[in-house]
Parts: sequence; C-alpha cells; structure tokens
Amino acid sequence: MVTVGVAIAAVRQKFNAAGIEQAGLEARLLLADTLTCDAAVVIGHPERLLAPNEVVELEEKVCRRLQREPLAYILGRREFWSLSFIVDSHTLVPRPETETLVEAALEWAAGRRDLRLLDLGTGSGCLLLALLYELPDAWGLGVDIDEAALGVARLNAETLGLDVRASFMRADWADALGGSFDLIVTNPPYISDAEWMELDPGVREFEPTLALRAGADGLTAYRRILPALRRLLAPNGVALIETGGASATLLPLLVRQSGLEIVENRHDLADRWRCLAVSSAATEPLKNFLGNQVVLV
Ligand SMILES: C[S@@+](CC[C@H](N)C(=O)[O-])C[C@H]1O[C@@H](n2cnc3c(N)ncnc32)[C@H](O)[C@@H]1O
Repeated sequence: MVTVGVAIAAVRQKFNAAGIEQAGLEARLLLADTLTCDAAVVIGHPERLLAPNEVVELEEKVCRRLQREPLAYILGRREFWSLSFIVDSHTLVPRPETETLVEAALEWAAGRRDLRLLDLGTGSGCLLLALLYELPDAWGLGVDIDEAALGVARLNAETLGLDVRASFMRADWADALGGSFDLIVTNPPYISDAEWMELDPGVREFEPTLALRAGADGLTAYRRILPALRRLLAPNGVALIETGGASATLLPLLVRQSGLEIVENRHDLADRWRCLAVSSAATEPLKNFLGNQVVLV
C-alpha cells in the first residue's frame, strides 16, 4: 500500500529528474486532483492510503506530464485573474501575461457603465469572462473560429455564472460582425515560423497550433484584425491587443497603416511589451486614461 506522503515524494523525484520546474507543487496538485480534494488536504494527511485505482490514475497522469503535456490539460483547469477556467486541448492555456490586458481594460473602464465588449479569438473565454466578472453591467461577445474552443468558453461562462451577459459566436475574425463595441480585446496568434521552431516542445506538441502560429512574420492574424477595428470600435472606444515575440516590433507600424492610433504600449510584469491600446482617433481623455503609465509610441 502507498501513502500520500510516499506517492508525492516519488512523483516529485520523477519530475525533478525530468527537469520539470516546481516538481513538488505539480506532484501535490496531481495527487489532489486524483483524490478529488484540496492540495492543503494532501499536505495535511501524508499518512492517507491510496486505493489501487487511485494509484493507477495517478500513474497515468504522471506519465502524461512526463511526456510534456501541460499540467493544465491534465487537471482540466487553469487559474486566470484568480478565476478557475476549464481548459482542454482545443483552448490555449491562459497565460499570466495576458492579465496585462485585463488590468489595462479595467483602468480604462473605470467610471464607465453599460460597456459592450468584444473578444476576438476568445479560446477558453478567459479574457472576456474575467472582464465581465469585474464589470457587472457590461455585456460581451466572444468570437473564435474553433467550435470546440467555443464549447469550452460557453461552459466557463455558465460555471462562472456569467452566461446571461456573455454570447459566443463562430466567425473568421471579424468578418461576420456588425455593430460597435466600446472595448475590444484580442490575444491573437502571433508566433512566427522561426519562433515556432524554438518553442517549448510541450507547447508545440500539445497546445492548438491555430491559437499560436501566425505565418512567416507572426503578423497574419493582426493583418486580418486591425482593419476591422476601425469599423467595430465605438466613438471613444478602445481596443487592447496582446503582443509579444518578434512580431511586437512591427505591430505599431501595421496599426498606423490601418488608420488606427496607438494610445499606449504597456509592459507585462516581466517588462516585455505586451499590450497595445489603440483607438480609431484618440481623444485627450483617452490618451490620459492610464495617467503616469501612458507611453505613446
Ligand atoms: C492566442 S489564442 C487566445 C485565446 C484566449 N483569448 C487567451 O488569451 O488565452 C488565439 C485564439 O484565436 C483563435 N483563432 C485563430 N484563428 C482565428 C480566426 N481566423 N478567427 C477567429 N478566431 C481565431 C484560436 O482558435 C484561439 O482560440
């Protein structure tokens, strides 16, 4: 018979040997998931015995992780903006750096009411739903080309109790969209072909290619999205665009070529360019919305 304490130590050792960072934490999370309990319970009861079926289930999960499958897919969940999101192999695992867009959006939204939000490339719905959670009178539409990803986003909206204010629609970027939106957020694919080759194998093999790759220069999705923003942005509206990697350098030029104005270029916690705020014509209040943090580029 195996105890919780022994199982955690064995899994941690395997993960350490495989070079998995945070081996101890991942071991505890997998064990807690297998026993359907909180990680704190696992820590507090090292003497608890595992049933044979629990040992088998744990071994299967450990095996998947050793093959570099992201922990979030094995657990079926990932935290974003302190909310728990269901994820699967059709959705990108939400990244902490994407919270930079949520921060920027909430600063912009402060004092505004009844906002209409649009999330282009919604995936798990994490961006749209985090915003709807924080803005109780806002309404939002999430768009994705992948029907399976939209299924996950809808499930997340229901689980978080936000389905009344969140709609989801399958579309090729903004092609089928009309109307106007006060706040548009988008984290499109922006990995260039060269960067793709250098990417962590776990990301390359397990996360959806559709969510990551954007052609030779990483700008394919931006070229589709940017021209539509002028049409879809309400007067005084703002679009927050995630950026990163090699394509970040070229994006400002593309934005201006699309007739849009850059309001701010915000860095993430690792001090990388992460969020470009654009408007169809920046008004003074919009330019000032982030106070000291505003960096006009
Ligand atoms: C980088 S992921 C972002 C997912 C989520 N918003 C997040 O931040 O975690 C990009 C998303 O864009 C979607 N996508 C790719 N091509 C698309 C297209 N042509 N039209 C609409 N969505 C698309 C992908 O399916 C994926 O869900």
